[in-house]
Amino acid sequence: MQAVILVGGKGTRLRPLTQHRPKPIVPLVDRPFMAYMLEWVASHGIEDVVMCCGFLADSMVEELGDGSRFGVRLTWVQEPEPRGTAGALKLAEPHLDGRFVMLNGDVLTDVDLSAQIAQHERTGAVGTLGLVPVEDPSAYGLVRLHADDRVDGFLEKPDPEEIDTDLISAGVYVLERDVLDLIPAGRMVSIEREVWPRLVDNGLYGCVHRGRYWMDIGTPERYLEGTADILAGRVQTRVLERLGAGPVHAGAHVADGVVVSHAALVEEGANVGPRSTVGAGTVVGRDVVVGRDVILENAVVLDGARVDDGVRLRDCIVGAGAHVERDASVSEHAMIGDGARVGSGNVLARGARVSPAATLPADTLRF
Ligand code: GDD
Ligand code: MG
Repeated sequence: MQAVILVGGKGTRLRPLTQHRPKPIVPLVDRPFMAYMLEWVASHGIEDVVMCCGFLADSMVEELGDGSRFGVRLTWVQEPEPRGTAGALKLAEPHLDGRFVMLNGDVLTDVDLSAQIAQHERTGAVGTLGLVPVEDPSAYGLVRLHADDRVDGFLEKPDPEEIDTDLISAGVYVLERDVLDLIPAGRMVSIEREVWPRLVDNGLYGCVHRGRYWMDIGTPERYLEGTADILAGRVQTRVLERLGAGPVHAGAHVADGVVVSHAALVEEGANVGPRSTVGAGTVVGRDVVVGRDVILENAVVLDGARVDDGVRLRDCIVGAGAHVERDASVSEHAMIGDGARVGSGNVLARGARVSPAATLPADTLRF
């Protein structure tokens, strides 16, 4: 079977991480975000993947290539202009042979795709939406089900008074090729607003995935949560295979006595100085230099960054090649752009963002 993955979004909420790289290749723990999706579909026997891109970023093609590194073959399709979720799918039509899987390109999940395909075949559905329970469905597509799993209603971004179930569309679909006939060519079309409603009571089913992991990864909070969940094994990923060998890469150097959480990762070439702590949910990227007396807690420090003595990093992201100087503190989902410099003594919190390559002089910010 084939899969189509939609990767059209700009990822603005993850800036500055997404300022120089498209969201699908933002690094998550030790690999580009899209690797998780590709390795997951490959683990369900899907090897042929069509990537529907809003704009074809060279960096994305360079990073993911032909997909062989992740166990799949990639075909790249580019829209002339944003066509919406269904419009993008329509452009993949010439590449699709028959029944296929379609995926929103921004979810970290280990739901049982094989079970969903099996249900789709058993019911003879035209389309089967993967469903997951969430606390607040208002930011998603809410799905009401009949007792026999037929979809009774689909409401994209429902108003609070319309919410009467916790089930939402996970952005994981199994579709018959006929669905493509419902999509007009050559214009913007939303699959959520124009296609699913027409299929309600016309062959649209829901497959409920319970007890599995699912997260739309688009904000700094959820990026850090996803990082911690991958490291702690709360989501099944290929990262767990390498973490079996311990959190510290054989080619890293960690000073004697430094405590490294089992749910952390210190990458090749990294150096962690004496009396520092590497807490759960922390990634110390390749060639990162961490000084003495540093506290890292659910902090992501990307490749080549420098973290000086006495710095505290909690629930934050430090970009590649950035430099956080002595005694600075970064927390509460603050993000430091690639190559930026945070002068000593600064205190960054509450979602503060420093642009790539910017300099924040010493003792400027205290919030
Ligand atoms: N190629 C392409 N072109 N891709 C697009 C376009 C487009 O014009 N518009 C959106 N996409 C891609 C996004 O990159 C993303 O991977 C996916 O389609 C979904 O779009 P989002 O913008 O992330 O939508 P959402 O998260 O608000 O809602 C969607 O996902 C929810 C689950 O996370 C809907 O499908 C909801 O029904 C669903 O519950
Ligand atoms: Mg989304």
